[in-house]
Amino acid sequence: MKLVGVSGALAGDKTSAVVNDVLVYARRFDSNIKTELIDLRDYEIDFFNGAPLADYNEDTWNVVQKISSADFLIFGTPIYQASISGALKNLFDHFPEYAFKHKVTGMIATGWSDKHFLVMEYHLRSILSYFKGFVPTNNVFVHNSAFEIDSDEIIDERVSERIQQLAEEMVSLQRGVNNRQA
Ligand SMILES: Cc1cc2nc3c(=O)[nH]c(=O)nc-3n(C[C@H](O)[C@H](O)[C@H](O)COP(=O)(O)O)c2cc1C
Repeated sequence: MKLVGVSGALAGDKTSAVVNDVLVYARRFDSNIKTELIDLRDYEIDFFNGAPLADYNEDTWNVVQKISSADFLIFGTPIYQASISGALKNLFDHFPEYAFKHKVTGMIATGWSDKHFLVMEYHLRSILSYFKGFVPTNNVFVHNSAFEIDSDEIIDERVSERIQQLAEEMVSLQRGVNNRQA
């Protein structure tokens, strides 16, 4: 099984660090799992303008293909203006309905306001559900205070435990989805 992580931040390191942690915990839980991190800072994703996928640049095409061929996915976003990042929303706009059918699609978010933990529930979950992804019961909002200031490593043990629980739930759920289809 391949788990692809997508970090929807173009600015700092925190979101991609947490997405990467999910990938690490998933591999620890099941050593057969292959993982790949798509950090949107490393790609020039074209703005969706209604044209077919073949008309966009190579990065856009590659990222859409990597996500489409993953067995399951973890999406991370920084909270911007009480919503997901524009970079992540633009990426989603390149996908057709049913794009995540039979895929577990996990959510993590980073932000500086505790009050915005529900943004994942109301903005990100609705998008993943529209694409027919299975959204796990666990998700993780990571407040900026949980990070070490210089290294952007998570120093709050409880947050790390929640990330681990999310990764383990995602692997278990995806196994169940695959068994049901077999
Ligand atoms: C333009 C902008 C808007 C933001 N809006 C919010 C917000 O509405 N709520 C919140 O909790 N954090 C907000 N933040 C804080 C970021 O979500 C937070 O710093 C996040 O950890 C950044 O992630 P990164 O290091 O991966 O870029 C905002 C940050 C910026 C730059």
